[in-house]
Amino acid sequence: MNTTRITLNPADTFATINPNIYGHFAEHLGRCIYDGIWVGEDSSIPNIDGFRTDIIEALRRLKPPVIRWPGGCFADDYHWQDGIGPRDRRPRRINIHWGEVVETNHVGTQEFVHFCRLVGAEPYVCGNVGSGTARELRDWVEYCNFPDSGPHGSTWAQQRAADGSPEPLDVTYWGVGNENWGCGGNFSPEDYCTEFRRYASFVRGFGKKLFVIACGSPDNDAEWTNRFFRKLYKDYWVFNNIDGFASHYYCGTAGTATNYSEEEWYRLLEKGLKMEKLVLQQRAAMDAFDPVRKIGLIIDEWGTWHPVEEGTSPAFLYQQNTIRDAIVAANTLDIFTRHADKVVMANIAQTINVLQAMILTEGEQMLVTPTGYVYEMYASHQGAAALRTRIETPDINFKKSNILQTSWQSALQKDETMEGSIPLVAGSASLKSKELFLTITNSHAREASGVTIDILGGAKVNGAHGQVLAGEIHAHNTFNSPTLVTPQAFDVNCEPSELNLALPPASVAAIWIQLG
Ligand code: AHR
Repeated sequence: MNTTRITLNPADTFATINPNIYGHFAEHLGRCIYDGIWVGEDSSIPNIDGFRTDIIEALRRLKPPVIRWPGGCFADDYHWQDGIGPRDRRPRRINIHWGEVVETNHVGTQEFVHFCRLVGAEPYVCGNVGSGTARELRDWVEYCNFPDSGPHGSTWAQQRAADGSPEPLDVTYWGVGNENWGCGGNFSPEDYCTEFRRYASFVRGFGKKLFVIACGSPDNDAEWTNRFFRKLYKDYWVFNNIDGFASHYYCGTAGTATNYSEEEWYRLLEKGLKMEKLVLQQRAAMDAFDPVRKIGLIIDEWGTWHPVEEGTSPAFLYQQNTIRDAIVAANTLDIFTRHADKVVMANIAQTINVLQAMILTEGEQMLVTPTGYVYEMYASHQGAAALRTRIETPDINFKKSNILQTSWQSALQKDETMEGSIPLVAGSASLKSKELFLTITNSHAREASGVTIDILGGAKVNGAHGQVLAGEIHAHNTFNSPTLVTPQAFDVNCEPSELNLALPPASVAAIWIQLG
């Protein structure tokens, strides 16, 4: 059996893990909002104020601390005033980005914030720069947050009260556009920066500290980052109403969601691991302009992107989710933990029925995907102190020249930069009070790895328990077998300063270690 050695020193912490790294993204796209989280109050599917009860309960277990909404590309064609007031009087619009379906606006600001509160998440609202106005965004903030909705209050706050919320909706996170280098208006970095400065000038807290997020780079595009920040910091006055800068990275696919060879299994895992390069290079680019690290790096869209499930609309981005997606998710979350001193938020795309979803639904049925279970298993990292983690593990070399030398695979062009090798075991660790928490993956398609965990610094191990999510490389949950891939209890052998375990192939494990 392969062996891996992990060394942890509980004294070697370097940052608090922002819980928002475990954030989600829910867009008006396909069946994410309608037929996903929202079925309406009159539905025969059990619901709380129109939101599916089973989904609320499942999400409470997965603990998303923040949910981004309403897009995505949708955000830059969304006019929030369409989504307030009595539902039956809201305008019907065309969702130009996603299948030109009719958007009823039945889920608007009040509904979305209510949903967030039901699942215990903070709302992150993405504003419209592409087709909106600075005034619209300014008024949206006022509608949500201006405290006085009484007779002497503001008209927008009074409207909020009339819509059911006399108290402020208390929205902290505000995005100034989405993918403004593309679907959000096709701006150059300099032109977007000018718009960002203008819009963000009017995003006011009304007594509350807001968190304002600028649109970051497409994938790992250093040029967007450099040109945006050069303009932001060197153009006449330095502009400071910015707290986060948000990149996107979709690692794509290899094969399809459920049909792939062993080599494609590894290829996608390698593409997922490229998130580390993005974080390293983007944070370095940001450091050049913001050496005190006031601005956090955010990845507010990321995940796998497979061809849609056969028989579903190409515009709805519905895909299955296997143990391979779970390992991509786990590796990515471990990367964020290892960069907890810079990454302050991340939002996997998307919560339900779209792309790398946590939950899939079909009529009354719903299931939690392997990716969803990773979020449940990893929740103990939220708010803990990130620990430097040394992992000595062999590489898996999977490069086959006949695959890498082809140039006809245009859809997989990114593979040309493949190294054809990934670490067998990857992971991250954190500390909360007297509990060490370690999360690890075994990327090998067929072989287990023995893992020895050394605890340094004189700390004594009082006990440990683990959970593992594992399966044959194509394993996934279906509506006929919704619990085929679920976390199982896992044996960890404890000695005073060492632990030993056997990590199954194709697996994600979470280990809680109690220190004396
Ligand atoms: O998540 C799906 C889409 O991917 C989003 O709308 C867009 O921002 C990105 O290109």
